[in-house]
Parts: sequence; C-alpha cells; structure tokens
Amino acid sequence: MDSKELQLIITDDGSHTLYVPSLQETYHSKFGAIQESRHIFINEGLGYWLNRDQRKTKTLCVLEVGFGTGLNALLSAIYMRDHPEICLRYHALEPKPLPGEITKKLNYCRILHSGEQLWDRIHECKWGSEARISNNFRLFKDPTMVADFKNPYAYSYDLVFFDAFAPGKQPELWNPSVFEKIRDSMAKGGYLVTYCARGQFKRDLKSLGFNVQTLPGPSGKLEMVRAGKGASTDTTT
Ligand SMILES: C[S@@+](CC[C@H](N)C(=O)[O-])C[C@H]1O[C@@H](n2cnc3c(N)ncnc32)[C@H](O)[C@@H]1O
Repeated sequence: MDSKELQLIITDDGSHTLYVPSLQETYHSKFGAIQESRHIFINEGLGYWLNRDQRKTKTLCVLEVGFGTGLNALLSAIYMRDHPEICLRYHALEPKPLPGEITKKLNYCRILHSGEQLWDRIHECKWGSEARISNNFRLFKDPTMVADFKNPYAYSYDLVFFDAFAPGKQPELWNPSVFEKIRDSMAKGGYLVTYCARGQFKRDLKSLGFNVQTLPGPSGKLEMVRAGKGASTDTTT
C-alpha cells in the first residue's frame, strides 16, 4: 500500500477515515470512525477494564495492532484524563506509518472539540521509543509487524486493541499463530477487543483458550468481540 493512493473520506458521524483503493478497504467503519473507535476500543475495552479492575493497578499496558491514523490512541489519551491515578503505557504497532501531510488533514479534534495538543504530540513523537504524551499517557509507536513484535515493558498487556484490516483483506493477520503470540504476551485477566465477530475467528480464539464474548457492535455493525485471557466472562455466546 502506497500512502499516495489513500483517499480521505467523511464517515456518517462527520469524522474522517482513509480509503485504500488497492484493498478496497477503509481504516474505519463508514458508519462513523469516531463512534466505532469509541464503542469498541474505549467503551468496551478501556472503560470496561478500568471499571471492573479489582487490582487497583497503577500501570495499564495496551497493545494496539494497527496504529493507522492514531484515532484509538487519541481517544485513549483523552479518556485517561479522567483517571489520573493510572498511567497508561500504549504500545502501537504500525509497519506503514502515515505521513504528516495525511494525519494533519484528519478532523478528529475538530469533531471532538478536544485533544489538539495530544494529537500533535501523538504524531510528532519519534517512532521506535516510548514518548510522554501527557502526565499519565505514554506512547511507544513501533514500526513493526505484529508477527515480529516484542513487548518492551516489564509488564504483560492488560488490553489488546486488534484493529487490523479485515480478514478478507489481510488474512495473514488473522491467523491463529498471531493470536497465540498475542495471548502469550497478555496478562491473566486481560482482554482483547476487536470489531471482527466472524465465526471462524471466534472458534480460533476459543481453541486458544480465550473466553469469547460477542457483544453488540457499533452503529452499522451487528456485533464485536471481547475475548478474555483466563478470566471468567459474564456472557459468553
Ligand atoms: C484498519 S487500519 C487501522 C485503524 C487504526 N487503528 C486507526 O484508528 O486509524 C489497519 C492498520 O493495520 C496496519 N497493518 C498492516 N499490516 C500490519 C501488520 N502486519 N502488523 C500491524 N499492523 C499492520 C495498516 O497499515 C493499517 O494502518
């Protein structure tokens, strides 16, 4: 994929996404990029974890597969403003970082009426090392493919935001070996969240020992998945 081919489009909630003509795929749901990210990764991921964590952890580690535009990182950094007692360390994998001329055009902060300074820091910090974005948000932008990543922290991941292109477009990213590697890097009681709720994918996760929950999806999508490692789940379908 060449970033020159990317087209900026407006989704149903007014926020931008990018269309990749060679894949015939967008970075986010056409029904709303912000509403999708918020629902799956913030409300059902970060918010869920913070609301139910009994360990009163001081550090929370997130792995994101597919940093893309940085929208999930931005929404996470904004969300963490309400949790100053916890430090979020966010490790984002992205083998094809977007150039600044594209990220500068994205309208997320305008739609959110918030986060301009966070957005600039998220995009201006260096790739390949951890950067301090705010008092309690650290970002490690890692230009590495999921097949090759290594956890740079002394902690296992509490949460995984799996936001790769769809299985029909990049099937190698949805291979069980990828999820086995991710599982082994996760903390017991940690969760993986993703927009994909395909049957084969859920069977693969179950065969790797995940507790798979099928949840209502964001607007325009029926379902999503939250999969727990070694934690009992409330509603498994
Ligand atoms: C659906 S888009 C990402 C959406 C992103 N979270 C956002 O908010 O913009 C999928 C991303 O996965 C990245 N990607 C492609 N191959 C990858 C790989 N092997 N490992 C990790 N990320 C990959 C793509 O470059 C793309 O940025």
